[in-house]
Amino acid sequence: MSPSVPAATPDATGLRTMGRGTLSRTLVLRTTALVAVIAIFLSGLTALAMHRILEGQLDTQLRSFASRDFGPSDGDFDRPVRPGSGGPGQTQGLLVCASDDSAVVGYVQQDQSRVELSDEASAALGTLPESPVPQTVSLPGVGLYRVVVNEHDGLRMVIGLPLSELTASMMSIVAAAGTLTALAILIAFLAARQVVERSLAPLARLATTAHHVSSLELDSGEVALTVRVPPRDADPRSEVGQVGLAFNHMLDNVEGALAARQASETKVRQFVADASHELRNPLAAIRGYAELTRRQRDELPPDASHALARIDSESSRMSTLVEDLLLLARLDAGPNITLSEVDLSNLVANAVSDAEAAGPDHRWSVDLPEEPVVARVDHNRIHQVLVNLFANARAHTPAGTSVRTSLAVDGGHVVIVVADDGPGIPESVLPSLFERFTRADTARVRTGTTSSTGLGLAIVAAVVGAHGGTVTATNGLVRGATFTVRLPLRRSQPQL
Ligand SMILES: Nc1ncnc2c1ncn2[C@@H]1O[C@H](COP(=O)(O)OP(=O)(O)O)[C@@H](O)[C@H]1O
Ligand SMILES: [Mg+2]
Repeated sequence: MSPSVPAATPDATGLRTMGRGTLSRTLVLRTTALVAVIAIFLSGLTALAMHRILEGQLDTQLRSFASRDFGPSDGDFDRPVRPGSGGPGQTQGLLVCASDDSAVVGYVQQDQSRVELSDEASAALGTLPESPVPQTVSLPGVGLYRVVVNEHDGLRMVIGLPLSELTASMMSIVAAAGTLTALAILIAFLAARQVVERSLAPLARLATTAHHVSSLELDSGEVALTVRVPPRDADPRSEVGQVGLAFNHMLDNVEGALAARQASETKVRQFVADASHELRNPLAAIRGYAELTRRQRDELPPDASHALARIDSESSRMSTLVEDLLLLARLDAGPNITLSEVDLSNLVANAVSDAEAAGPDHRWSVDLPEEPVVARVDHNRIHQVLVNLFANARAHTPAGTSVRTSLAVDGGHVVIVVADDGPGIPESVLPSLFERFTRADTARVRTGTTSSTGLGLAIVAAVVGAHGGTVTATNGLVRGATFTVRLPLRRSQPQL
């Protein structure tokens, strides 16, 4: 089974659950808002229904009072309301008011006693229209009342019951409903957050895997793309699982493509290495025979002699090309270098002196630190780097050019600089200078000194790269090219 990425916390991937603008936050807020709207609507409806019921009960009670004969048909309002049958009894807050053309008499019954209505309250009652249907009226000094107004024989009777109890009951109902609504909203919020976080957790893990894959270097070499979304997040029964499954299929596909690319690259590299290797021997034979025949120069006609000279020079150019290709193919296959303690001061001094012997028309100088610089490098390969740079300085600059080479230690690195005051690197080749077969117009190459293959700097870059170093090339402001090679002083042997 392919390994899967350990379930990282969302934060490790930069994902924020419940962060501003996230899907989880939106889902939780919307669900809570929906529950809140429904809960508020239902509690409002319940409170309204309760109010109707309580009011209905009060009205029924009121009507039954109004139908009884407790009134002072003889106009005697001072008589206390009789408890028990025939009257309203000791109903708390009962309002009785009668008026004829001459006077208005009214009271509110509190416990056993009566409280006379104030003038304002009596006046307010006096303005009410006659109606057997209970109506609500606000009486100054006594509060809200439900009243029935009856009129017969010129006598106007108002019977009322206070709304204070109903209001108190409604207050407790509204308070209870409000508390329950707030509780429901809180529970909905917590539950929604829990559910959403749980449901979206696979997405966060999927993103972790995607982040992991995106940080892999897939551009070259052998790539092990073993990362997969864990099976529990790739269950096709859920939508998120389907995404996980599709992601795993995509990774399978990419892994297959990478393996195919790697196989074909290896094949091509192997072919180049084999071909270069196989070409070495016939080339050596051609050069040998050409050399042998040239020794009998006197017996040959001038045309044949010239042709042999061309065969000799072209076959040696081809030998260089084949050797370079073989070296590059080997370096491509892996960091094919053998590290040992090398006295770089010595190596640089010798290489400059060899270059001076090979290019006496140029002016060579070297700048070495007082202490010998010893680094762990591959002696032959670094020698080759210097040979290539010096060969370029000879080949691509006119006679009389100065070539300064310096060696220095900068932190944990060795810095080798080869600078000349020649015409500089042509702008056209600068962007791809270290790529294979990059070379300027061959007309610029001075014939006779070396043959141009366009592989010299590619080898420099490959060797320096295999050492874990870097090489850069810059042109001077006015003239000259400068090559800077940085190599780590100490490096363990790279593994294939
Ligand atoms: N010191 C230099 N001065 C000017 N141009 C240079 C110098 N070194 C390299 N070049 C340019 O870089 C090109 C690539 O160099 P290289 O890879 O060694 O190939 P080659 O030397 O076989 O042409 C050369 O063709 C040349 O145009
Ligand atoms: Mg070269």
